Amino acid sequence: MKKTWLAIAPAIVAIILSSCGNNNAPAEHPPVAAAKPAAPTGEDVYKRTCVACHQANGEGMPNTYPPLAKSDYLSDKAKVIKQVLKGSSGEITVNGKTYNNTMPPQQLSDEEMASVLTYVYSNFGNSGGTITPEEVKAARAAL
Ligand code: HEC
Repeated sequence: MKKTWLAIAPAIVAIILSSCGNNNAPAEHPPVAAAKPAAPTGEDVYKRTCVACHQANGEGMPNTYPPLAKSDYLSDKAKVIKQVLKGSSGEITVNGKTYNNTMPPQQLSDEEMASVLTYVYSNFGNSGGTITPEEVKAARAAL
């Protein structure tokens, strides 16, 4: 009798443990959907795309790359969107100084274009303002 008890005791312990062991466990969370990769911020796009020419501080390079910092060119939003979509070459006057160079068209989505331009308008001592993806889309359609 004693031997039988010893033989089945581990089984009983196992059954007891498995039946109540989980009662206090925290409720399982439903599986979380994999987070979408965060959209690049305007700063990310600027640092990836514009910084080589217009520089981290937006000042550009004398006689070569015009400044975005306090650029009088920014007063015309439509012109600015078009500039970045299409690029330009030839003479351009920014803050009274003439530049004669080429900016290639920038291959960016409407969202990236909107966020990088909003970044430009909100930094470098500029006056603020927002460019929306819808504005970029409309400008792109009108090119
Ligand atoms: C390869 C160098 C280069 C890159 C990259 C570049 N630009 Fe330019 N950008 C220029 C040049 C050069 C001009 C003047 C072009 C001319 O003479 O017609 C210019 C002009 C401009 C102007 C109008 C003039 C001014 O200074 O306000 C804006 C606005 C501008 N760029 C914004 C951008 C933005 C935003 C990006 C990134 C998305 C960018 N550029 C990327 C070289 C560049």
